[in-house]
Amino acid sequence: MRIVPSTIRGQVVVAFSVCFVFMALLIAMNYRNFHNLISSMQFFEISEELNSTILEMRRYEKNFFLFHSDHDIEENISYTNRLNLLLYRERNNLIHAIGKSNYDQFIEYVRAYSSLMEDLRKSSGKNMEWLESQRSIRKSGQDLLVFADQLVRNERRVIHQLLQKMTSFPMLNLVGLVILLAFVIFFIGEKIVRPLARITRESEAIAQGVFHGMISPFGNVKNEIFRLIAAINRMMSELESRQEQLVQSRKIAAVGTLTSGIAHEINNPINNISLTLESLIEDHESMKPYERIELYQEALDQAERASDTVKNLLEFSRANHPRLEEVSLDEVIDKTARLFNNEFKIHKIQFSKSSQDALPSLRLDKGGLQQVLVNLFVNSVQAMPEGGELKILLERNRNEVKIDVTDTGEGIPHEHLGRIFDPFFTTKKEGEGTGLGLSVSYSIVKKHGGRMEVRSAEGAGTTFSIFLPIKGVSDGSGAS
Ligand SMILES: Nc1ncnc2c1ncn2[C@@H]1O[C@H](COP(=O)(O)OP(=O)(O)OP(=O)(O)O)[C@@H](O)[C@H]1O
Ligand SMILES: [Mg+2]
Repeated sequence: MRIVPSTIRGQVVVAFSVCFVFMALLIAMNYRNFHNLISSMQFFEISEELNSTILEMRRYEKNFFLFHSDHDIEENISYTNRLNLLLYRERNNLIHAIGKSNYDQFIEYVRAYSSLMEDLRKSSGKNMEWLESQRSIRKSGQDLLVFADQLVRNERRVIHQLLQKMTSFPMLNLVGLVILLAFVIFFIGEKIVRPLARITRESEAIAQGVFHGMISPFGNVKNEIFRLIAAINRMMSELESRQEQLVQSRKIAAVGTLTSGIAHEINNPINNISLTLESLIEDHESMKPYERIELYQEALDQAERASDTVKNLLEFSRANHPRLEEVSLDEVIDKTARLFNNEFKIHKIQFSKSSQDALPSLRLDKGGLQQVLVNLFVNSVQAMPEGGELKILLERNRNEVKIDVTDTGEGIPHEHLGRIFDPFFTTKKEGEGTGLGLSVSYSIVKKHGGRMEVRSAEGAGTTFSIFLPIKGVSDGSGAS
């Protein structure tokens, strides 16, 4: 049987029930102590009454022996009767306090004393055994007094012990409460605060770009924290797939923008192939064999060029899940620029690429990076309708690689700079731009643990900088 429930709610209920039981026990113990003290004090009063009655009896007994007055013996007997009455009235209390055998013995003492005094009264002191009975009475009276005195002393000691116990009790209560409080704080820390801190830590790590991050589940399956982690993970995988869909739809849109350029890129080699084949048919007879082979080769080269373009385009537009692999930045940039070859030509844009340092190959999602570059290139082409320059500069700073994409286009007005990475922010006409290009690019770069910055001067041009961290990658500069 499980005592500790698996849900936090159940555990909190158990913890508070334990606290409640502990407090109830303390209160009950305090109540018992007070109750005991009150009964002891009541009994102490009874003992004192017994004691003083016996003292009075003895006082009249002594007087009688000194002055032989009948009044004294009457008084003595009246006090003895009062003692008997007291003993009878408080029988239960006395038995409870001193035990049955002691009580019986006490009664025996009183009875012996009474009968001695009764005898004395009857003989009125004229008896020959006067001296003998005087000694017996004194002894019996003394026994009674010692007994009653012991009773008083005993009760005083019990009260004293109880008071001592009661003064140290609050201290013990305090220690108990501190231990209980520490237990509750430890419980809350262990079961609630620590798991929440872990979730926060891991979510922050994911937000900082740990690719495909998930919070590692822990704890009992029925536990609320476990269910919370499962819900966050579900939400993240849902966001992930939405993000992938968005990236994919952006790719399709970019392909749409590139259509005219790509069509040219495919059309050109096909035209060349047609021309080559025409001249082969027309001049077949007059051609020398090596000239024919040259033309066949030319046709083959052109076919390969067209096929390369189609392959490159397909590779870019295919829906591929983000996959980390070692990638050479030069290669990705060249491949992307090749898609734009004709676009650049049509718009009279001069493309160039340079790098200041030897660069390591990075571990990143190739398709994602290509997508970012395509979005930046499309924006630059759109910003330079009259032509211009598009420059790529690669640099390595300590722990990161910087890719600058600079155009000499219209630039971005200062008041727009803070909003261009927002989803759906666009200055383009309806149908021309959705305003998602930069926001998708930013999220792809962020997933790699990187960041993007922009500098722009209206009328002069714009530079987008992509920063990618170099982490866990062998420095393949030169070697890769
Ligand atoms: N190189 C650039 N030169 C000038 N303005 C730019 C440049 N890049 C982006 N912008 C500005 O930033 C805005 C947002 O760009 P973003 O790529 O996010 O969306 P878009 O190009 O308008 O639409 P989409 O890319 O979805 O087709 C653009 O509308 C444009 O005003
Ligand atoms: Mg755009």
